[in-house]
Amino acid sequence: MAEVPGRDLAAGWNRISSMDMHKITTLLENNRQWAARVKDTDPGFFERLAAQQHPKYLWIGCSDSRVPANQITGLVPGEVFVHRNVANIAHPTDVNLMSVLEYAVDVLQVEHVLVVGHYGCGGVRAALQGRLPGIADFWLEPVRELARRHRKTLAGLEGRELEDKVCELNVTSQVRALANSGIVQNAWERKQKLTIHGWVYRLDDGILQDLGETRTGPEE
Ligand code: CO
Repeated sequence: MAEVPGRDLAAGWNRISSMDMHKITTLLENNRQWAARVKDTDPGFFERLAAQQHPKYLWIGCSDSRVPANQITGLVPGEVFVHRNVANIAHPTDVNLMSVLEYAVDVLQVEHVLVVGHYGCGGVRAALQGRLPGIADFWLEPVRELARRHRKTLAGLEGRELEDKVCELNVTSQVRALANSGIVQNAWERKQKLTIHGWVYRLDDGILQDLGETRTGPEE
């Protein structure tokens, strides 16, 4: 393993400062309080969820900590199946995403797939600026490819305006890619009710916007 300057790796994990330890303990305390509150409001909540999950929604969004699926849509545990990655990329060669999609559509039978991008996405910005080292740069290549493909639409845009337009194009292109996937096509073929939506979230005011790129069947 590579040396990390200024850190004794052998002893490193024992050296969590008391401040950090306090923060982590707070999370566990928060959890106990939350569980008690939920149980108070709905005594059968955890027993019900432990028995099975029946989410109607699959959320495919960015890993950005400011875009938590449940909170911004007012959904409680059990209501949304979630996949998040940097820059909400839905690539058909991504076995992680595709197995999530397959399980959500075939087994859980979700009725809606929500592809959710967000303005001010650091992943999209990094893709356009080409400033990330190593594997992240490889991961973001589809965004760069997308920008190349849409260079006419993007001509004349720069800075934040350019980034935000790419965020939108990224979402709409993911919606189309998912609609064309075998998993979704097969679901529609067997008349399963399934709609794919493209949304974008604004960090500045917490508002989700529908980009109007909705797919409900193979004919579109
Ligand atoms: Co992002």
